[in-house]
Amino acid sequence: MYEYAVAWEWLSFAARWFHVITAVAWIGSSFYFIALDLGLVKRPHLPAGASGEEWQVHGGGFYHIQKYLVAPSQMPQHLTWFKYESYFTWLSGFLMLCIVYYGGADLFLVDRSVMDLAPWQAILISLGSLAFGWLVYDQLCKSPIGRNTWGLMAVLYIVLVAMAWGYTQVFTGRAAFLHLGAFTATIMSANVFMIIIPNQKIVVADLIAGRKPDPKYGVIAKQRSLHNNYLTLPVIFFMLSNHYPLAFATTFNWVIAALVFLMGVTIRHWFNTTHARKGKPTWTWLVTVILFIVIIWLSTAPKMLTGETDAALGPPTTAMSQRFAANSHFGAARDIVQGRCSMCHAAEPVYEGIHFTPKNVMLETDAQIASHAREIYIQAGRSHAMPPGNVTSISPQERKLLVAWYESTLSE
Ligand code: HEC
Repeated sequence: MYEYAVAWEWLSFAARWFHVITAVAWIGSSFYFIALDLGLVKRPHLPAGASGEEWQVHGGGFYHIQKYLVAPSQMPQHLTWFKYESYFTWLSGFLMLCIVYYGGADLFLVDRSVMDLAPWQAILISLGSLAFGWLVYDQLCKSPIGRNTWGLMAVLYIVLVAMAWGYTQVFTGRAAFLHLGAFTATIMSANVFMIIIPNQKIVVADLIAGRKPDPKYGVIAKQRSLHNNYLTLPVIFFMLSNHYPLAFATTFNWVIAALVFLMGVTIRHWFNTTHARKGKPTWTWLVTVILFIVIIWLSTAPKMLTGETDAALGPPTTAMSQRFAANSHFGAARDIVQGRCSMCHAAEPVYEGIHFTPKNVMLETDAQIASHAREIYIQAGRSHAMPPGNVTSISPQERKLLVAWYESTLSE
């Protein structure tokens, strides 16, 4: 049975590897096209239908690019599409969501002191919220508000902040941030899948049939692209945030999230303006730095006063952690963890230089230790990642005992 934990760990790594690669490809091509689009220049000699051109140099050659808006008069023989980067980023991201947050719902998705949910309830809320996000967003874009670019952006911002708050009222801080990223990224991918590519296909079909394509399809796609442009950087922040508990596990985490969305706009605005050769708005960096300082300051507010500690003092709550606590090796394993790990992995770490609970992993009480059995097994039993540099001198025999505890519980 322990093979399962090892396989799960590797599946998780493989999915993450794939996800990062597809995301790099998607974001890379989307940044490239935004810059290209903004840098196009109108010249008199351009062929009919072309709205701008640009020269670029890269990798030992010069590129001469011309943009046709709405479309060239004839269908080109070879046409390269950009869509799989986006689709696979979403699919691999969803796989990660299943592996980390649905598979580990007890630990990472549900915080009983925030809302007492069964894992299946939390998973339904998670799935429902992603679908809800797209429906609301899409309807807003298609409504009369959608005709006013900045008005629409303001309304969308309010929706995102409301979701930031809402998620923190339901899930762990870590899952709340991750879901906010997934909520936003689902909108971005659905923009490509449901709007941008289908519109492009209508235009291509018109060209093949010899009809003149309607420019409205390009205009709609452009609006969705603009949103994707401003949402990219915050999404990356939320996806990386699970490594930084000060961002997600502090009292004002949802306010921090609200400011992160603003930083996405201020940073992108500098690049957009620069690429359009409309000057260099240095003030945007000043605003970004101020926003970041406010975020840091907010994160130092008193730690979230949740019932976490009270719950942790009681007996283990889930069926799985009860099994780990009932195993005959548990007493010895707990003593090892308390002797080698708790100095750092505590609500108030006592190890010199450790000021915050690392990764918010607390290993002090029976309930905490039993519920982190798999992580202890991977980090300190199967691998030597913990304690870092073996600073607390855990012995090979002790590691063996942690392994025996985990594996014998599973084979019981
Ligand atoms: C000297 C302090 C210290 C000790 C002792 C220590 N840890 Fe850690 N632990 C850390 C730090 C720091 C991190 C965060 C590492 C990082 O940022 O990648 C961490 C991370 C972790 C994580 C989360 C890993 C992840 O990537 O999500 C687990 C689980 C963990 N430790 C378990 C243990 C166990 C089990 C022990 C005892 C055998 C232990 N640690 C001992 C400092 C410590």
